[in-house]
Amino acid sequence: MTTQEQEILSQLLQQYRDLPGALLPLLHAIQDAIGHVSDDAVPAIARTLNQSQAEVRGVISFYHDFRTTPPAAHSLRLCRAEACQSMGSEALAAQLRAQLGVDDHGHTADGQLELRPVYCLGACACAPALQLDGQLHARVTPEKLSALLASCSKEGQC
Ligand code: FES
Repeated sequence: MTTQEQEILSQLLQQYRDLPGALLPLLHAIQDAIGHVSDDAVPAIARTLNQSQAEVRGVISFYHDFRTTPPAAHSLRLCRAEACQSMGSEALAAQLRAQLGVDDHGHTADGQLELRPVYCLGACACAPALQLDGQLHARVTPEKLSALLASCSKEGQC
């Protein structure tokens, strides 16, 4: 953790230490502020909340939204639920594997893009859908996916 991240962690530990049931809200606050919950933070979290490190790690690993490493520059969440599967999301996943060498829960070799599967983005009528850096894209074709990826690599943002 950087010095700045340690300061943020210390502030959050002070803020949440007396809150009943603080573990989940604290983990969310840490991830919101720092971008991930580093394994280095676990001992201090456990000590502050009077829980074991195993309990803290168990909660972090149980919830898929918690991450233990810094996020990539771009986050692509590809819907893999039924409606999107029936409309081609598996082909889009295969395209990502072939084009970028990235699989579910993985990231590109340059660390620029991470791929996360999701199970419904609420856009079933416009399947297949994905979310790139928080922005929803629907009726995604292989060509549209290629264009989105190209915009990421050209401009550094999508
Ligand atoms: S199933 Fe993909 S958006 Fe609902």
